[in-house]
Amino acid sequence: MKSKRFGRFTASVLIVMIAILLFAGCGSENRYESVGSQQAGSAENDRRSESAQKALDQDVSDGYLILVNKDQANHLSASYEPSDLERVKYVAEDRSPAGWSMRHKAAEQFNLMSEDAAKEGLDVVVTTAYRSYDFQTQLFNSYVAQKGEEEANKTSARPGESEHQTGLAADLSTSEINYANSSAFGDTKAGKWVAENCWKYGFIIRFPEGMDSITGYSYEPWHIRYVGDTAAKEIHDSGITLEEYIKENKLGNSIPADARASASDAEVSEGGN
Ligand code: DAL
Ligand code: ZN
Repeated sequence: MKSKRFGRFTASVLIVMIAILLFAGCGSENRYESVGSQQAGSAENDRRSESAQKALDQDVSDGYLILVNKDQANHLSASYEPSDLERVKYVAEDRSPAGWSMRHKAAEQFNLMSEDAAKEGLDVVVTTAYRSYDFQTQLFNSYVAQKGEEEANKTSARPGESEHQTGLAADLSTSEINYANSSAFGDTKAGKWVAENCWKYGFIIRFPEGMDSITGYSYEPWHIRYVGDTAAKEIHDSGITLEEYIKENKLGNSIPADARASASDAEVSEGGN
């Protein structure tokens, strides 16, 4: 009797000890996993290959990571015009040819992307890409006349604040929506293909959904921006905005001094839009 009770007691103690060991084991495994994933996270940056880093450095030096937005420090002067603009091959024919150019590399990559889309039976064309300061002034003013300044500025930049002036951005459309400039582009087959694949050509969807507080603009599925292969892949994989990417990678402001708006430009722009 005594030994039977002792046996049951020993068995209970053993069960409790095994349970404690198992529990502690799981806990330590979890801790290990979380430390492990933190290491993987930081190793992710360290793991950028030497060639990817080299390509990113080159893209920065070529000006492809230029940041133009609503912040005064990131405004372009009225006279800034990229020196290597060239016509893209695939355009919405009913738009102004004045908006059919991009910087050489961006144009080349857009052409390639559009040709690959065509292989899938999709047409992806530029409505406007490069827009001069004056072009942007006219466009912004026409939106202001239609819907008021505050509403207009949710999807249209004031002159000097538009990255279209860098020659690295393009607005896209497709036959499915009769080449309209519209958020409906995001729901078209071509728009979905672009969202999935544009990073492979060095482009990002510059104003993603729900990021207005960071980018300053509403979701624009039609607006792509060339940033180069390394940044496009990393921005696509991480889901961050260009603003965050530039900050995280300490890329600083890459607007050349001679292209940056001066304080007097700011007064003109704010007073005259
Ligand atoms: N649609 C973008 C914000 C621009 O006008 O540059
Ligand atoms: Zn645009």
